[in-house]
Amino acid sequence: MAHLSTLHHTTDSLDSIKADAISIGIFEDGSLTARGKSIDVLMNGQISSATKRGDIKGKDGETTIFYSDHAPIIVIGLGKSKEFDTESIRKAGGTLAKKAIAKKYPHVACENFGGKGIEPFGQALAEGLTMGSYQFNDYITQKKDELFELEKVTVSGGSKAGLEKGTIIANGVCLARNLGNHPGNVTTPTRLAEEAKKIGRKGNMKVTVFDREKFTKMGMGALAGVAAGTDEPPKFILMEYWGAKKSVKPKVLVGKGLTFDSGGISIKPASKMDEMKFDMCGSAVVLGCMQVIAELKPKINVVAAIASTENLSGAKAYKPGDILTAYNGKTIEVLNTDAEGRLILADALSYVSKHYDPAFIFDFATLTGAVVVALGHIATGIMGTDERLIEKVKKSSEMTGEKVWEFPLWKEYCDQVQSKIADVKNVGAPREAGTIAGGAFLKEFVDEDIPWCHFDIAGTAWGEKEKPYGPKAGATGNMVRLVLDTLGI
Ligand code: BES
Ligand code: MN
Ligand code: ZN
Repeated sequence: MAHLSTLHHTTDSLDSIKADAISIGIFEDGSLTARGKSIDVLMNGQISSATKRGDIKGKDGETTIFYSDHAPIIVIGLGKSKEFDTESIRKAGGTLAKKAIAKKYPHVACENFGGKGIEPFGQALAEGLTMGSYQFNDYITQKKDELFELEKVTVSGGSKAGLEKGTIIANGVCLARNLGNHPGNVTTPTRLAEEAKKIGRKGNMKVTVFDREKFTKMGMGALAGVAAGTDEPPKFILMEYWGAKKSVKPKVLVGKGLTFDSGGISIKPASKMDEMKFDMCGSAVVLGCMQVIAELKPKINVVAAIASTENLSGAKAYKPGDILTAYNGKTIEVLNTDAEGRLILADALSYVSKHYDPAFIFDFATLTGAVVVALGHIATGIMGTDERLIEKVKKSSEMTGEKVWEFPLWKEYCDQVQSKIADVKNVGAPREAGTIAGGAFLKEFVDEDIPWCHFDIAGTAWGEKEKPYGPKAGATGNMVRLVLDTLGI
């Protein structure tokens, strides 16, 4: 495990814990928590005098190490005490985990950084520590002695229940990162299906995997069209979790599981094509969430659907000009085989719209390069049909610190995906509003009365500027925490 997967909680005082380092926090006004104060006393007031001299500023991200006879003391800046919130504590946890790895301290003990005994603070600390400890070194076989993993963190004080919950949630984020970071020859559709089954066994979920022959017969002509160019077996994966009465409408999560996107016949340029191993990150969000649900077993109903294939240009590959028929019967004129994500999602969205009575549908997809142009690697583009649902998503976004920005799905845009010779086409107006065109296309495959929100995560699933609890590079697992928050977990 290249991240901490459990944390230890104790009510013992920090200095009584046998650890390789001890960590406390300090605010910008120089104030320490009760546990911090007792460490300062033990250090003969060195920490407070360093603060008075201005050597410690308490800014977030700041770390200062004092070497005592007892153990090194890592002092973490917590920012302004007036602005202290769950994100401050999440950042402190991430900063500490990274510092401990850099200093090669296998076991650190820390306080709960001013989080009091309240569950959300304990949860945020565990999220920060766990996500911050994440590294992806699975393929390094040489110079292994240069690698170092954090083995243990003991938290003194704070909410034990919060810590446990935060750890489980962050493990879901790390699962999403792992699935994304493994290359396309490892994270295949078959591998995603195996992961879904494993999660299903843990969470008493019903998992059904449809193979090429089966989903083609069922009428998923769009997924079958995209999958035609590859020999790697494609899968349509369904997971059902019934934690409430069957009469309660399920919340539905749909993911794009494109395990490698070459563009197909409309092939992509070679530069950065390797990054298209991340084109399954939508499905990784879904699996990350389902793993957390399997562990926490909330009293809700959730259905997950993942459409998964490669997009290659094999001899049987679909071609520009081809017309495909989706699961809901709509015909699609393919004008660019590189706009494949919306095709495989068309079948998944039609399927869940028809067979369940969803309370709402979320779909997650690395759908357009255009969203990176619009929002960079900072925010996920969202759009949908139900104001209340979108508001809920925005609220959760504020809670979890995963930024979202809404795009309009006005009729003018929806008109741009209408085809002259089929019902719809898979591209909008050339070089215009590409992200919205993606959303407008998907809208055609969601029943009108179902609240729906589409998440274009092409900018946020990887390539983010390093955050205190984020990875140095690679998949971020972004949106897992936001979705769990909207599910009330
Ligand atoms: N997976 C890509 C989107 C993508 C591109 C994500 C770059 C992250 C970085 C998607 O399948 C795609 O190729 N979309 C096309 C759509 C276009 C042909 C209408 C795109 O964005 O260029
Ligand atoms: Mn593509
Ligand atoms: Zn793609």
